[in-house]
Amino acid sequence: MKKILITGAAGKIGQHITNTLMKQTNYQLRLADINLLPLEKFKKSGHEIIYLNVSSLEECQEACKNIDIVIHLAGDPSPNADFYTTLLESHIKGSYNIFKAASDNGISKVVVASSAQTVEGYPLDFQVTESSPVRPKNMYGVSKCFVEALASYFAYEKQLQSIAIRIGAYDDYKTEGQPLSARDMSAYISPEDFSELLLKTISAKSLPPFSILHGISNNRFKRLNIEETKRLVEYTPNSDAFKLCGIQLFDC
Ligand SMILES: NC(=O)c1ccc[n+]([C@@H]2O[C@H](COP(=O)([O-])OP(=O)(O)OC[C@H]3O[C@@H](n4cnc5c(N)ncnc54)[C@H](O)[C@@H]3O)[C@@H](O)[C@H]2O)c1
Repeated sequence: MKKILITGAAGKIGQHITNTLMKQTNYQLRLADINLLPLEKFKKSGHEIIYLNVSSLEECQEACKNIDIVIHLAGDPSPNADFYTTLLESHIKGSYNIFKAASDNGISKVVVASSAQTVEGYPLDFQVTESSPVRPKNMYGVSKCFVEALASYFAYEKQLQSIAIRIGAYDDYKTEGQPLSARDMSAYISPEDFSELLLKTISAKSLPPFSILHGISNNRFKRLNIEETKRLVEYTPNSDAFKLCGIQLFDC
């Protein structure tokens, strides 16, 4: 039985992956967030729920005790997030605290939420690969570049296996149904595909010390190339945002 800490478990992605992981029988979860209200529905699940502000190293140290894998999602998903009020505390300090605590507590793997915003500065007709240099377009993207650098540092200098998933436009199109822009269609990832990517990432046995994975679906046009991600964790995405949005494109 592997013990997994999920930070930001009360958020949109956190709640979805909590439901996914609870359906597996081989994981014991510790759900952590600054906002405990949305986690009340998991109270009777037999999994642990704790208050955690990732800005506090002391709280991160406590949260990482007796844990095998960390899934670090806590943060603000807005590309317009303010540097001083949010990014500095939650993304920069908070991510350092989580990696430091994971390393100090001998955790075997950290999976961290990065973002397609790390490379959003490229022209829209450029397809980004995992080895393209980062090119953020806003301070949110800059903070996620820091998170990727942090993951690489802890992987190679502290022997903590780290995987940064560059999440694209995460949306439950079926229930949220908002029209997507062309950019968001090309970077779309469905909850189902994200679940599959995450499950394969946490169980993958032969990953290098540090990996960047591209978390987007099998969209007809892809802002991020996913061939390396498919190869590394045998990711087999199914959703295509262009089809979901009713844009019919015929194969020649
Ligand atoms: N939603 C997307 O399309 C998307 C795309 C790329 C990356 N991401 C990243 O994925 C992660 C989760 O995104 P989401 O859409 O679920 O966001 P969300 O806002 O729904 O959830 C984030 C959660 O983090 C918690 N949180 C914020 N600051 C915290 C702190 N200091 N300590 C502890 N918890 C804290 C919030 O209370 C919230 O429950 C974020 O890191 C985000 O940057 C999201």
